Amino acid sequence: MSDLISLAGQSAIVTGASSGIGAATALELARAGADVAVNFHGSEDAAEDVAARIRALGRNAVTVKANVSVEHDVVSLFDTAEAALGPIDIVVSNAGLQKDAAIADMTIEDWNAVIALNLTGGFLVGREAVRRFRKKGMRPNVSRALGKLIFDSSVHQRIPWAFHANYAASKGGLHLLMQSLAQEVACERIRVNAVAPGAIATKINAEERDDNEEGMLKLIPYGRIGEAADIGRAVAWIASDAADYMVGETLFIDGGMSLYPEFRGNG
Ligand code: BGC
Repeated sequence: MSDLISLAGQSAIVTGASSGIGAATALELARAGADVAVNFHGSEDAAEDVAARIRALGRNAVTVKANVSVEHDVVSLFDTAEAALGPIDIVVSNAGLQKDAAIADMTIEDWNAVIALNLTGGFLVGREAVRRFRKKGMRPNVSRALGKLIFDSSVHQRIPWAFHANYAASKGGLHLLMQSLAQEVACERIRVNAVAPGAIATKINAEERDDNEEGMLKLIPYGRIGEAADIGRAVAWIASDAADYMVGETLFIDGGMSLYPEFRGNG
């Protein structure tokens, strides 16, 4: 089993890896033995910090600036990552954002920005991953799969979210993008899957936690807000041969948020 979980000899790209779930995922992949390209768009210092922590684990790391909603940025992200780390075995499409508004107040800019990064970004990164996996070819000494592509989705690919219609729509779209892609390329031994995090303590929901942590906890049967590493560890497992038969699946990691906790009532 420990051999199956190892990512030794493999290289990964994680998008949006300078903070939050992306950063934790980059670190967990490194802990499992992978070299990692840390994509960022905002703070280079934060990305360098993640890279330094990966190097401290004895793995190779490179930081790459790219806006994953821009076609040529995605191509050069892969070029730079491959030049530094060699052929890429694992791609984690994580970069995403929220721009919350009541529907009557939601601007076209808010709508477009969220769809562009969360959904179109997933398409661009997924498409490039498939192209590069094909070019790389099988490496039976490192993995049973030709490549592993993992999307960071959300419980809101399933749970409707008032006042967040753009975000929920982007994650719902990502769900069928993931499944359609998985169906298309599974015959080439490319495994496409997703994780669906619940409320994880990161910048994206810092305000929500400040304003209403108690209310959030009521929606989490397990009784705690998640940590980014809860998701990173699951992604590392999905990327490994221990999950080699997992194809087109979404792993909900949400402390039970998607179990309709209101139905528990008073027992
Ligand atoms: C959102 C967070 C939210 C969580 C649970 C995530 O996808 O990004 O802001 O706390 O879902 O609702």
